[in-house]
Amino acid sequence: MTSRTAIVTGGASGIGLAISRRLVGDGTVVAIFDVDGGAARDAATEICTDGGKAIGLAVDVADRTAIDAAVTEVRSTLGPPAILVNNAGITVAGPFLELTAETWNRVLAVNLTGTFDCCQAVLPDMVEQNWGRIVNISSSSMHSGVPGMAAYVTSKAGMVGLTKVLALEFGRRGITVNTIPPGFIETPMMRDSLSKGVFDMDLQVAKTPVGRVGRPEDIAATCSFLVSEEAAYITGQIIGVNGGRNT
Ligand code: NAI
Repeated sequence: MTSRTAIVTGGASGIGLAISRRLVGDGTVVAIFDVDGGAARDAATEICTDGGKAIGLAVDVADRTAIDAAVTEVRSTLGPPAILVNNAGITVAGPFLELTAETWNRVLAVNLTGTFDCCQAVLPDMVEQNWGRIVNISSSSMHSGVPGMAAYVTSKAGMVGLTKVLALEFGRRGITVNTIPPGFIETPMMRDSLSKGVFDMDLQVAKTPVGRVGRPEDIAATCSFLVSEEAAYITGQIIGVNGGRNT
């Protein structure tokens, strides 16, 4: 792949950071959008020390104005975006009857509406180029459900619906849209859930046929393929990367 421009949301940590590193390694120019602007800039600087090109921008994906401003900056500094990885996400756990409207709305705003807004902000650039790749990082929890995670699981299931519709609407414009629902991946988010007792590490590994926790690089490798030229005939798909967990 030669110097296409990618946007990776939530690219300053965990899975998003691994995807950003991998895409730069593939020869893509990457803009990291993260609510933690300092971490986004640090990640971009680290990636650039290996000779790649990346920038980090402070963007809350729940803020459409901030998204539009950042996409404008990407166009002028790196060129029109051709790849979008919607990876930014938050999780909140707790009993359903204690779930407040405020928490529900925030999780949906970041995980689902943020994905919608980022897609709508960059799709005109992809249409213009007659080429585009969108990868939505959902969650294997949307297959199985997880007790105490109604807002999160609902938001992640919604990402699959959006993926299907966009694949149909934009297939003839050279644009593919796919979803990766990761399984159990060791990242800061997962370590936080483990520390709160939401998941039990040994139990999760026992349930995983390949017998280990996933690595952010496992997701990055799949994402790298889905945004490549070779993946042009794959669209509207749910590509599970979960160590063989029964979904
Ligand atoms: P993480 O917490 O390590 O990284 C998430 C990144 O998103 C952070 O850099 C954070 O600052 C950023 N972020 C959070 N809210 C944001 C916002 N409003 N706007 C922009 N950036 C924001 O999490 P991890 O584990 O790397 O997760 C990445 C994605 O993968 C998430 O969407 C998560 O739901 C999904 N996922 C993760 C799994 C896992 O086992 N770690 C399993 C299934 C899905």
